[in-house]
Amino acid sequence: MVSTLRWRVFSVAALMAVSTAAAGAGKITEADSSQFAKFKHQYETWQQTKDSSEVVDALAEDPMLVVLWAGYGFAKDYNKARGHHYTITDLRATLRTGAPKGPDDGPMPMACWSCKSPDVPRYIEANGEDAYFKGKWARGGNEITHEIGCGNCHDNNARLRVSVPFADRAMETIGMPWDKASKSDRQSMVCGQCHVEYYFTPDKKFVKFPWDNGLSADEMEKYYDAIQFSDWTHGLSKAPMLKAQHPGFETWKTGTHGRNDVSCTDCHMPRVTNAEGRKYTDHNVGNPFDQFEFTCARCHEQSKEELEAVTKHYKEMVTEAKLKAEKQLVHAHFEAKAAWDAGATEAEMKEALTAIRHAQWRWDMSIASHGIHAHNPEEALRLLASSLERSSDARVSLARVLAKHGQLEPIALPDISTKAAAQVAVGLDEPAMQKAKDEFLETVVPEWDKEYQAKYGSDAQ
Ligand code: HEC
Ligand code: HEC
Ligand code: HEC
Ligand code: HEC
Repeated sequence: MVSTLRWRVFSVAALMAVSTAAAGAGKITEADSSQFAKFKHQYETWQQTKDSSEVVDALAEDPMLVVLWAGYGFAKDYNKARGHHYTITDLRATLRTGAPKGPDDGPMPMACWSCKSPDVPRYIEANGEDAYFKGKWARGGNEITHEIGCGNCHDNNARLRVSVPFADRAMETIGMPWDKASKSDRQSMVCGQCHVEYYFTPDKKFVKFPWDNGLSADEMEKYYDAIQFSDWTHGLSKAPMLKAQHPGFETWKTGTHGRNDVSCTDCHMPRVTNAEGRKYTDHNVGNPFDQFEFTCARCHEQSKEELEAVTKHYKEMVTEAKLKAEKQLVHAHFEAKAAWDAGATEAEMKEALTAIRHAQWRWDMSIASHGIHAHNPEEALRLLASSLERSSDARVSLARVLAKHGQLEPIALPDISTKAAAQVAVGLDEPAMQKAKDEFLETVVPEWDKEYQAKYGSDAQ
């Protein structure tokens, strides 16, 4: 009797481990990647993600972004993506995570760690998802310290896997359960744990991918509208906004390569042959043109220069359309603010605010999907055209509301010609935020690393 009971308890536990972690059943993820150093080529190339170290300030490059994200963290600070090595460094340093003084302080929830570290699957396996998602971001500071590593994409035996249950659930929703997925699908699904659109559920602040209706921008927009979800209320227009995260998986999947089963790793983590004739997967996830011979050239006859020129041309087209869409959105936000100031009612504003929400979502789906000019330029251009259309709906509606309240003159824009000017225009005090952040990095962060080391006895980073 006792032994039957034990067997049943054991088998339920084993089944749960299989269904959540897909592989490596029963074992807790090893989060310290140096423990995998025996996989010499993979380990050494993984370390090279350190070389992509350049920080590019996206807000300085394009101050209109500050206006579009007014009232939301991204208006404070937004740098372009760099190497996987920097995920923890950058998350700690961004003004978006604030300068928390204790575990219950600060603007962001725990969910914010979810795409940064193999400590995330480790923590979830040890304590469960409810415990992981509970509380503020700062609570996880002394538990999550390793940059993206082996444990994010592999079990402890270096078998490929999806490492977090919320990504597993999302892949099942779109009919791609890990057990049934092809080798090529799996090579993209590991990236799709993080390079996706997601949101934090209002009740428990869980990470969820909004894929119930499908992966397109239109289907996700319908999903969010139906549950009346918004990431934030815009600081100027008061529109209920959506922030697209980094929907690379979604826009890749519907693009030429995604439709032809060319996986993320075919371009970003190619199988290479070194000088001794050894074949292995290059773990320096970066720009595919740096490994042209093993990436594009496997399937295309054109030269590197030709294909780079094609990609650059698409990038220029997307950038031009993007700037046009942004300009219209900036006007719409300030016009909506003027309408509120002139005494407009919620009922009068509803139509315009919904149009702003949709226009900005479509714009964001194209710009936040890094590399879209390479992955799916047609979709980027389609989304930006439909963004312009919805901005135009908003502005027509706002002109009517403004006229009704006696505002017939065009609404002038304040100075938003630099990042600093735009931040002042939306009411942000950047120097004060930076000062608090510097103090946080000097005092709180070293304690986190010390506590991790004391608890787990491994290097914190
Ligand atoms: C971002 C995801 C990702 C990370 C992080 C990652 N790998 Fe991999 N790894 C892959 C993929 C994808 C493959 C190719 C699997 C395939 O082709 O089916 C792979 C393959 C491998 C293989 C099989 C042999 C080969 O070269 O194809 C080994 C061993 C391996 N990785 C070790 C590591 C080690 C050690 C680390 C940490 C230092 C690591 N991986 C980090 C995604 C990752
Ligand atoms: C655990 C989450 C996670 C996984 C898994 C992941 N990424 Fe990333 N990736 C990120 C984050 C976060 C950044 C931004 C890092 C920063 O700027 O600090 C990033 C950055 C990148 C970059 C920019 C690199 C550079 O040097 O500019 C590329 C390209 C990329 N990822 C591709 C991939 C591919 C391809 C895969 C799958 C093989 C993958 N990523 C898997 C989270 C992830
Ligand atoms: C594993 C094979 C494979 C790899 C690797 C690959 N491609 Fe392709 N590529 C394809 C296929 C298949 C098509 C679709 C061809 C068709 O429809 O005729 C395609 C189409 C294209 C197109 C035409 C796009 C369009 O919308 O019609 C461009 C441009 C392109 N690839 C560029 C690249 C670049 C740049 C790289 C490297 C970064 C690359 N490809 C890597 C297989 C590959
Ligand atoms: C056909 C090849 C190809 C495939 C497949 C592909 N990418 Fe890319 N990716 C590129 C190229 C080329 C660039 C842009 C390089 C440039 O602009 O010079 C890029 C850019 C990126 C960037 C932006 C890097 C940066 O520093 O801004 C990310 C992130 C990224 N890809 C992730 C992914 C993910 C995740 C997948 C799968 C879901 C994927 N890619 C599939 C070729 C590919």
